[in-house]
Amino acid sequence: MRGPLLIAIDGPAASGKGTLGRRLAAHFGLPHLDTGLLYRAVGWAAERTGRPPAELAATLRAADLANPELRTDAAGQAASRVSAIPEVRANLLKFQKDFAYQPSGAVLDGRDIGTVICPDAPVKLYVSASLEARADRRYRELRAQGADTIKPRVLAEMAERDRRDSERAAAPLKAAPDAYLLDTSDMDADAAFAAALAFIEGKGFRSAGP
Ligand code: CDP
Repeated sequence: MRGPLLIAIDGPAASGKGTLGRRLAAHFGLPHLDTGLLYRAVGWAAERTGRPPAELAATLRAADLANPELRTDAAGQAASRVSAIPEVRANLLKFQKDFAYQPSGAVLDGRDIGTVICPDAPVKLYVSASLEARADRRYRELRAQGADTIKPRVLAEMAERDRRDSERAAAPLKAAPDAYLLDTSDMDADAAFAAALAFIEGKGFRSAGP
């Protein structure tokens, strides 16, 4: 094994990056940070309290990430809005870098992990899937949670969030030039995990476990 294993995963909403991140973290025994939760926590608090998002970002604590309301679609839209503010991104940088550069190594997933947060990560994955496949997944998730929604609405909201995340000036969503591209449109979670694992093992990293 060559130095700590730091895995940077980026990609759009419902591409499967969160599930993949959790599975890779469990496999390699690494801590995992879903960085979307940071932006969700800031967006959610900004809407509730009216306080400036940059100030909320500067005082964010790990305990703030446990709020179950952060998982809602409304929190995702609020996150996408505050995440375009450069001061918000700057104020969340240290939290993410501290997590990434722990001696154990780490797994982080988000939109700018391989490009801005950890440009020197030894493993970078860019997980994508067609808009239709992603909207379909999110629609099923929402229905399973009992949400009352229709597929065209989920698709329209996802297209809007994609556009905002890719077109913003501050750290737009894009693949790092050295990222391994994983298109999961026709892959289930097991297939995506197997493909990512083969890539990581090909770089000489192995799980320390049995
Ligand atoms: O799970 P899902 O992909 O739907 O959302 P998320 O990863 O929780 O991210 C919510 C929003 O936060 C995204 O639409 C981005 O605007 C923003 N975000 C970001 O700008 N940078 C990150 N590293 C992570 C999320």
